[in-house]
Amino acid sequence: MKRNIIACSIAASIAVAVSLAPSSQAQDAGKVDFEKQVLPILKESCFKCHQKEHEEDGKVKKPKGGLRLDGAAMILKGGKEYPDENVVAGKADASWLVKTMELPDTDDMAMPPEGKGDRISADNIALIKKWITEGANFGAWKGEE
Ligand code: HEC
Repeated sequence: MKRNIIACSIAASIAVAVSLAPSSQAQDAGKVDFEKQVLPILKESCFKCHQKEHEEDGKVKKPKGGLRLDGAAMILKGGKEYPDENVVAGKADASWLVKTMELPDTDDMAMPPEGKGDRISADNIALIKKWITEGANFGAWKGEE
């Protein structure tokens, strides 16, 4: 009789342990969602100068530095100075997308450039770094070609 009670309580604790283990879905929920969390930051602070060639007030606007941030493939392609190093999946410290945000205002490569917009907040920089460290996954988002 005593044996049975012990067996039962072991089975019960295994069941509890299994139900407490995070499912892979729960882990995904902890990851940064590019479209929901990162894209709005880029839209607000970077798109003005880093999007597809277009016309504005009768003037042709080309992407600055040859860098477009309005499409997943373009973000990975990078610009003229740092092709393939705009976003290096897994390596936030090697990714110019976020490096430029951390440069001091006075640096020529600080983004957005001095006087052309507010610096990105430390929280948002940390978020973008987390997204890169987690593998720079765009999910279903493709953006512009
Ligand atoms: C007002 C216009 C403007 C805004 C806004 C702006 N940039 Fe730039 N960006 C530039 C210019 C101009 C260059 C080229 C600078 C150079 O090569 O000296 C550049 C170049 C870059 C480069 C280097 C590309 C390469 O490989 O040559 C990166 C990375 C970059 N910007 C990221 C950003 C990010 C991220 C944001 C938003 C936080 C941003 N920029 C906002 C004007 C802008």
